[in-house]
Amino acid sequence: MIKIAPSILSADFSKLIDDVNTVEAAGCHMLHIDVMDGHFVPNITIGPLVVNSLKDKTKLPFDVHLMIENPDKYIPDFIKAGADIISVHSEACIHLHRTIQLIKQHGIKACVALNPATPLNVLDYVLADLDMVLIMTVNPGFGGQKLIEATLPKIKKLSTMIKDKGLDIDIQVDGGISPDNINLVTSAGANVIVAGSAIFNSPNIPYTVELMKRNGTV
Ligand code: DX5
Ligand code: ZN
Repeated sequence: MIKIAPSILSADFSKLIDDVNTVEAAGCHMLHIDVMDGHFVPNITIGPLVVNSLKDKTKLPFDVHLMIENPDKYIPDFIKAGADIISVHSEACIHLHRTIQLIKQHGIKACVALNPATPLNVLDYVLADLDMVLIMTVNPGFGGQKLIEATLPKIKKLSTMIKDKGLDIDIQVDGGISPDNINLVTSAGANVIVAGSAIFNSPNIPYTVELMKRNGTV
């Protein structure tokens, strides 16, 4: 079964909790929280304070996508704020193995995110330690971009790698995904689908979530 992870980057921040409650009621599976620092990506979003303010107000697990330099410095703060899974970018981690262990030491799930141009072989010696891999289907930094189709063979290759090794690891995809193209990523092997603008800009969020589930079923 696929899981839907709405990205609050496209929510209305003046009524954030209402938007969170809407996607929870619509049957989404986790909340995708995009953290940007203006250095690793050319945009600034939110920090642990905002994450913490949502924690007691929803049952959805928090999927925190760190698009920041030096993530080790902030991982403990995001865990205290309520992260259930943390994604770090391989491109931002000098000591990727150490960073993964740091996340797991706190008893939460660890994920590594790869930009569109980053090859899968950066995962060769850490894959078995991961709960999820995030294949970026756009260059990170902004919502509302177009899915880069060159990332589709990468999803397929990762799915084969995971199966061949007999591992149980989720494949998340993020960027430019809508009810119209979700089948491209799920048929390639992705099972955790992030969507920001497609969900939050929709005039009928429950219907869009339902459509994503239906069109994404392989
Ligand atoms: C992009 C973020 C995404 C973004 C997705 O840097 O990581 O999570 O919010 O937004 P859409 O679905 O609009 O491409
Ligand atoms: Zn994201």
